Amino acid sequence: MAIPIPESRIARFENMGFGMFIHYGIYSQLGCGEWVMDIAQIPKEEYVKLADTFTAKDFDAKAIARTAKAAGMNYITLTTKHHDGFCLYDTKGLCDYDAPHSACGRDLIREFVDACNEEGIMPMFYHATLEWYHEEFETDFPKYLQYLRDSVEILCTQYGKIGGLWFDGNWSKPAGTDWEEDKLYEVIRRHQPDAIIVNNTGLDARGAVGNPEIDSVTFEQGRPSPMDREGMPKYLAAEMCHTMNDHWGFGKCDLNYKSLPDMIETLCACRKVGANYLLNVGPEGDGKIPDMQKTMIEAMGTWIKECGNIIYEGKPSKIEGEYKNFALEANGKAYLFIHGLNVLGSAHVIVAGGGLGYKYFKKVNRKVKSAKWTDNGENLEFVQNGEHLWVNATGFPYGCNFVVRVMEIEFED
Ligand code: GLC
Repeated sequence: MAIPIPESRIARFENMGFGMFIHYGIYSQLGCGEWVMDIAQIPKEEYVKLADTFTAKDFDAKAIARTAKAAGMNYITLTTKHHDGFCLYDTKGLCDYDAPHSACGRDLIREFVDACNEEGIMPMFYHATLEWYHEEFETDFPKYLQYLRDSVEILCTQYGKIGGLWFDGNWSKPAGTDWEEDKLYEVIRRHQPDAIIVNNTGLDARGAVGNPEIDSVTFEQGRPSPMDREGMPKYLAAEMCHTMNDHWGFGKCDLNYKSLPDMIETLCACRKVGANYLLNVGPEGDGKIPDMQKTMIEAMGTWIKECGNIIYEGKPSKIEGEYKNFALEANGKAYLFIHGLNVLGSAHVIVAGGGLGYKYFKKVNRKVKSAKWTDNGENLEFVQNGEHLWVNATGFPYGCNFVVRVMEIEFED
């Protein structure tokens, strides 16, 4: 059976490859994650007071967009409203629990979209469907759903062209609950026909395919599995979102950061199967991205610049490597992603034992003409025997270690 051709918005989304997720809201001031209202059982009357101190004085959308851009991220998905119900955008009177009515008195989504447009980054809107503020969520669900649609209509009509909507929370009600998804997505298609529609399927149903209007499946905090698109009614993209530590919203006492090698390898693992990697930052209460997170993101940018540019247009390949090694293909070439290489140097400074030398790849069904590293252009030796290929993966020159090194393979015509 055939694999459907992706619609252009979906193909574009897939080629963006790497995005920044931002969880920011009045909860960020507590430094205790975005679920703090629910988990610490803060009464609503107490919680809403956080709006009075929410100055967002260091929420510098331009600086954020520049950071994302420098990191090689092509889109930013920002929480326009999280489960606490507070809106970072001007709700135009729908509800006064929004940024313009808070201490900051600004429309942060306006600033965000303008900054993204200036930097050439696609702005995407996270929008919670599960909500703790509007009581109708529990007491009069159809009324709540109307509020949800009206909110989305505002987001789709007040900010020019947007990249898409990313919903989250349908997993909170029993399966079979009618979220009137068709009506919701119709609002988006009517005003923003090129926008991507995502609805996070949560931790228990990673990769699940939902409503026919959905454009991408999600793999929250997981590892994306290869998509079997044969016979699907439409081509779906895939996206995996990850926290850098254990919280989406700022967690000031959360030191459990992933390592940079882990994040680089995760980006690679996503692209191996054609999925996007949406990496989260949780700005502090005043809106600043924590230094630690900013530094990590900048380093991701260094990796992409040196050897990873191919992560955008490279498509999954039939060529298989050993261990974590794999291949992508683009422009008639193959790109081999080689993990775990050692740094070359002297026994006095370099700990030996890393993987150097010939790496094996199979199912290489064309004749290889040349092999070279993408970062420094060094030509590499190889041996090919039918569909079997061994490439001589020399180590990193003393002075660098990119964690995953990418080799470009050219084929005979
Ligand atoms: C979960 C959480 C939510 C977070 C989201 C991001 O659904 O409920 O707080 O925004 O994951 O994927």
